[in-house]
Amino acid sequence: MASFVIRGGRVLQGEIRASGAKNSILPIMAASLLTRRECIIRDTPDLRDVGTMSRILTSVGAKVWVGTDAASGQRYLRILPDGLNTYEIPAELMAEMRSSIVLMGALLGRLGKVRVCRPGGCSIGTRPINFHLRGFEMLGARIRAEHGYIDAETTGLIGREMHLDFPSVTTTENLMMAAVFAEGTTVIKNAAKEPEIVDLQNFLNAMGARIVGAGLDTIRIVGTRTLGGVDHAVIPDRIEVGTYLVAGAITGGDVTVQNVVPEHLEAVTAKLGEAGAVLDVGRDHIRIRPGTRLRAVDFKTLPYPGFPTDMQPQAMAMACFAHGTSLITENIFDQRFAHADELMRMGASIEVGNRLAVVRGGGRLTGARVKATDLRAGAALVLAGLGAEGTTVVDPCYHIERGYERMEEKLRAVGASITKVNG
Ligand code: EPU
Repeated sequence: MASFVIRGGRVLQGEIRASGAKNSILPIMAASLLTRRECIIRDTPDLRDVGTMSRILTSVGAKVWVGTDAASGQRYLRILPDGLNTYEIPAELMAEMRSSIVLMGALLGRLGKVRVCRPGGCSIGTRPINFHLRGFEMLGARIRAEHGYIDAETTGLIGREMHLDFPSVTTTENLMMAAVFAEGTTVIKNAAKEPEIVDLQNFLNAMGARIVGAGLDTIRIVGTRTLGGVDHAVIPDRIEVGTYLVAGAITGGDVTVQNVVPEHLEAVTAKLGEAGAVLDVGRDHIRIRPGTRLRAVDFKTLPYPGFPTDMQPQAMAMACFAHGTSLITENIFDQRFAHADELMRMGASIEVGNRLAVVRGGGRLTGARVKATDLRAGAALVLAGLGAEGTTVVDPCYHIERGYERMEEKLRAVGASITKVNG
């Protein structure tokens, strides 16, 4: 398996363009199954997970093409979902990507029937799907869970009011998609407020759905009978933006990230500022420059607009280089500290409790061979490698490529020494 080899100590300088958001495009690709008409999705990132979702759409009978826009040079997807021929997602594709759970709402809405294999836990925690299933049941679906499979079926969903126990992102997305064709009005209270939910609402409404409230606590979906085609550009990936800003902070560099919606990153830029970096926030870009020496800051992950759990590993990498002690509290997932052990292999001083990590920063990190156990942990180790003395090998790069488009090329363009090595 391929790995990234990083020679640390270079000061990054220059511009990086953020790609379309992974966590937007995956539910949006699933939502394309709700229509029979052509869907164009612009600013498609070239990611392993997008490839997996394309294979899932093809496996149920949709046609998917990838193109490049001549004017912008950006990739786009053209999806024609007119002839679906099965309601079952192949188990091996489901197993490759936990977020394939968002296919449930789309297929239940379109076909009235769906069969998936139960996604297991993963390296960031147990990740149950009870909220999703309870929501479908409340809309009137019959759920059967047997032999590792889950079947959901309905002769017609009925809209109603529901209250989520936790503002779960993919639960909110699944219920929005299922409710599009439900009779009457569905109200989702304590809904997730992430920008990706707003992007999904915009996509569905452009197809003819009637949804209001995304981005707020309460989302209302008035059922409709059919949806049309759509041409939609996905929002920029706020986690990718945050990751490259942290790369700038760790190396004391001067990095500008383009294609940004700055208000999606307020929790992240606030913390970078508190840590001593200087940020110039433009309309569609953020520049980070060195200010004072990096200072320790505390991080508590929370649902949006709080500090994102998907930036917690990168924040921990930064804390290793900051002067002082940082407390990092992980409130979203129950096992999202696997990167701490690997950072310690590089010389970091971290104490890990159940949901709390104490990072004593200010020492130096030295390059080592480290294991990328999941996507964001892998990104954090690359960041640590950029600031460490000597050579770091992040192995494998498989998980990183699930969610970062050509990370090594983007980092090399701003002066990093990073190569992908096969074998
Ligand atoms: N939860 C349940 N039951 C459920 C669903 C969720 O108990 O039925 C719990 C989870 O175990 C977790 C909490 O609720 O403790 C929040 O999980 P959520 O459902 O919001 O996460 P998700 O929808 O599975 C999405 C992103 C993740 C991101 C989280 C939190 C996608 C495709 N995935 O996952 O992205 O960390 O929201 O923001 O949108 C990543 O990109 O690296 C990534 C893991």
